[in-house]
Amino acid sequence: MTQPFRFAHISDIHLPTFAADCRLPTAFLNKRFFSALSWFGKRRHIHHKEITDHLVKDCLASAPDHILVTGDLINLSLAGEYGRALDWLQGLGTPDQVSAIPGNHDLLLDTNAARSGLALYAPYMGGETNNSQQFPYVKQKKVIAFIGLSTAIETPIGWCSGRLGEAQRERLGAVLDQAKRENLCRIVALHHPPAGKQKARGGLEDQKEFAAIIAEFGAELILHGHTHQSSMHALPGPTGPVPVLGVASLSVGPGKGYQPGCWHEYAVQRVDNHWQILLNVHRYTSPDMPPERVAQAILNSA
Ligand SMILES: [Fe+2]
Repeated sequence: MTQPFRFAHISDIHLPTFAADCRLPTAFLNKRFFSALSWFGKRRHIHHKEITDHLVKDCLASAPDHILVTGDLINLSLAGEYGRALDWLQGLGTPDQVSAIPGNHDLLLDTNAARSGLALYAPYMGGETNNSQQFPYVKQKKVIAFIGLSTAIETPIGWCSGRLGEAQRERLGAVLDQAKRENLCRIVALHHPPAGKQKARGGLEDQKEFAAIIAEFGAELILHGHTHQSSMHALPGPTGPVPVLGVASLSVGPGKGYQPGCWHEYAVQRVDNHWQILLNVHRYTSPDMPPERVAQAILNSA
């Protein structure tokens, strides 16, 4: 039997934003003003770089075959944040070793400056160059097809919903169909949760349309972030339920009203005529202790 393919799923890093990033007052004559109030008033006390570093060290020590990052690397879509996020991605590995997709905080405002900033991540998002970024992208790693989607859109003040849009949805069916023909294990990644009950102002606007694509073409596993909670749902597929798993934020400490930071470790292997997917949850406890393994699950897919 061949060795299982092991990959890590991490999300919602929310790398620190600093006052020095906010020197240009005109950059705040919009929704960003309220997001900045939220970051400097509350969220910077919830997300900690030390916890991110602790969990990343544990993740890299386990030498996964690949790392999947499902968005929200930053907070306010400011130029300085994108540069640091790129440095952070490079610390995880090369674009060959790491796949990423954007979250709503990576495109808080849909401006030329934000698009240019986001383009810095492009090599990690399936693009050969900064200009060739397109979703869905497919990154094949051995028996796995990582299928990256973007749900990042600018939303009104107080909203953080996402949308795939018609063009991406149209291509997704063909991508899933092709990967199935090639006998690949299809791992679909998007930032917003595509299953379970979500508030309109924070959910995936075209959740029903996405579910219809999965019902027709199937997938072996769907992974997301956004909720800052580890969660498990399913969507109906053509041959049975398709597991939908969310991972908690990488940077949250214990006792903050959210789940403590964690990363998910998956081991994928073809067993007889189905895909066997094992999940281990690595959760932060304290700076002096390695993350504890708190849950294990087996997800089988036909
Ligand atoms: Fe987030």
